[in-house]
Amino acid sequence: MTDRYAVIGHPIAHSKSPLIHAAFARQTGQDLEYTRILSAPDAFVDTVRCFFGDGGQGLNVTVPFKEAAWRLVDEHSPRAATAGAVNTLIRLPGQRLRGDNTDGVGLVRDLAGNHGFDFAGRRVLLLGAGGAARGVLRPLLESGLAELLIANRTLDKAAALAAAVADLDPGGATVHACGLADLGPVAFDLIINATSTGLTGAVPAIAPSVLAPGAWTYDMIYADSPTPFCRWGLSHGAARAIDGLGMLVEQAAESFFLWRGMRPETAAVIDLLRRR
Ligand code: ATR
Repeated sequence: MTDRYAVIGHPIAHSKSPLIHAAFARQTGQDLEYTRILSAPDAFVDTVRCFFGDGGQGLNVTVPFKEAAWRLVDEHSPRAATAGAVNTLIRLPGQRLRGDNTDGVGLVRDLAGNHGFDFAGRRVLLLGAGGAARGVLRPLLESGLAELLIANRTLDKAAALAAAVADLDPGGATVHACGLADLGPVAFDLIINATSTGLTGAVPAIAPSVLAPGAWTYDMIYADSPTPFCRWGLSHGAARAIDGLGMLVEQAAESFFLWRGMRPETAAVIDLLRRR
């Protein structure tokens, strides 16, 4: 029988996840279907229970339900526990659910695996302290980087995130926080935009001096044309300015692995999406 998976969100029509998982299934010869589920904000829990009650095998969860999914599950992976958000629901025996979060590993694999960024010993600046930033923290800290500075418009939120990961002992990395306005003369090897500014065509207000010579920029959103933050990076001398399309495909590949036990090849799928 064909196994059923889906992505649930509100809105959901724009989601590329069905296309990505259909490509993974074709490539690996897996018999599965993957659809979109639009859930009203107050119907999320019932919709999820109904999906699994009807024999569904797994769900991806997107905006605005990742925190609700975190509260719903019976157990969390360590990275989901740190994220406070779940983007992958895995069916366990006895109608129990496990929640995982594959966003951070998607980010790190895209940078390190697809683009060849070597995290070892690097200074990384993470812009933003909302759900998107928190979602990627643990894998980022496990990447081998030397220093992570979380900078946010609202300092308190950045400080809270830094404090939340202080006990993780992430391989000796230093983690600290500051307000966006307080970014000093220190420069970074990689600057990741996890703010929601791109949705309005803006970029966080930061000085180009945060870019070390040869620094890369990474925008966690993607678009058909270069995002505002990619344009900012390129116009200020970043060696590479990458958008989040590869992260999208890599987080999907990790979900696919959690469900099916096999890793799809991602490069061809990233190309496919880039050309659409
Ligand atoms: P998401 O789930 O996308 O992270 P969020 O939790 O609402 O959404 O967080 C949005 C992030 O973008 C926050 O870090 C926010 O900064 P504040 O905490 O100060 O609100 C950041 N952000 C939004 N608009 C911004 C702007 N114009 N300049 C800088 N940061 C901005």
